Amino acid sequence: MLLSRKDMRYNIMKVLVTGGVGYIGSHTCVELLNEGHEVVIVDDLSNSKIEVLDKIKTMTNKEAKFYQLDILDRDAFEVVFKENKIDAVIHFAGKKAVGESCEKPIMYYHNNITGTLILTELMQKYSVSTIIFSSSATVYGIPETVPLTEDMPLSTINPYGTTKLFCERILADIQVANPTWSVTLLRYFNPIGAHSSGLIGEEPNGIPNNLLPYIVKVANGDLECLHVFGDDYDTPDGTCIRDYIHVVDLAKGHLKALNKAKESGVHIYNLGTGIGYSVLDIIHSFEKANNLKLNYKITARRPGDAAISYSDPTKANKELDWVAVKNIEDMCRDSYNFIVKQKY
Ligand code: NAD
Ligand code: WQD
Repeated sequence: MLLSRKDMRYNIMKVLVTGGVGYIGSHTCVELLNEGHEVVIVDDLSNSKIEVLDKIKTMTNKEAKFYQLDILDRDAFEVVFKENKIDAVIHFAGKKAVGESCEKPIMYYHNNITGTLILTELMQKYSVSTIIFSSSATVYGIPETVPLTEDMPLSTINPYGTTKLFCERILADIQVANPTWSVTLLRYFNPIGAHSSGLIGEEPNGIPNNLLPYIVKVANGDLECLHVFGDDYDTPDGTCIRDYIHVVDLAKGHLKALNKAKESGVHIYNLGTGIGYSVLDIIHSFEKANNLKLNYKITARRPGDAAISYSDPTKANKELDWVAVKNIEDMCRDSYNFIVKQKY
């Protein structure tokens, strides 16, 4: 059989995407389907909406196979492995709210860690040995120096972060015991933005905890005023600095990681832009990108916030041949475009 140019560059795979209906997972499914991969999604819809599946289909003209189930339900989850010959897993399913993790640590440890253990047990049973895991810059704790490289010391300051660090260690230990496994730990910095179509994006329930989801709700009048948490940090304008990354760039990073995952081993990459923006920078970029004014006021610091966190993405740039291409205006414009499109 003649191979197309695309088949020669990429091995077409059947990829199990846990949490594939969620924010980062849905954008990654679009990229996977557009590259010709087969996609099997498992999601319990605890933090996402079934309509996203139709949107993915509209955007790609392709359909992902979907199982609505909780990955903690081992028997139901095993059916997915019985019915599909999975080549690789991208594991997004997990709870992600820092504040909630401090109130409900048992639930967070159970969902994120037991969920990962059940997944890896099933992978072992069904001889699936490639996993890409959604880790987070949170594993660097409160950084002592920036930019952050992958070899810097790890620590955590809340139960959510601890689940990510424990899962990293569990997956690395599994790889050591099973050297044919390929484990990729992707440490995302601050994902924001939405697909430029405005069809998929981030839709948190209730009052958002994160900066961009809060800003878009102030912009569209759902919330009155943004509270800037502290302007007395040791940064140029006194507000905290973060490495915001467009979710589509992030999604594309998973495809590059999938390519690299053909090599066994433990592969660890920061996925960020390497550029730090302050909270005030974001407010001003959002105003400029969307031609509006935001109502905001400076309030007290939020406990647990690091003053400065941004990545050194050189390792991913070199080894994955991946680079974030979208700028802060793209991120601010696409975040708002998604919310406006949902409303009207
Ligand atoms: P999200 O909540 O939008 O997506 C997670 C998806 O997993 C949701 O659709 C949810 O319904 C599903 N899910 C949760 N628990 C499940 C379970 N037990 N069984 C089946 N499905 C389950 O979150 P996201 O922003 O897309 O994040 C994806 C992953 O990336 C998470 O693991 C998160 O911790 C990690 N991460 C996110 C960020 C961020 O700022 N968004 C940053 C770093 C890392
Ligand atoms: C960004 C900046 C706030 C809201 C969190 C998780 C991290 C990762 C990404 C998953 C900070 C300031 C915020 C507001 C504000 N998630 N802010 N007013 O805290 O860097 O990271 O999301 O892994 O683990 O901790 O992101 O968006 O909450 O905050 O002034 O209403 O915006 O103080 O400086 P954070 P964030």
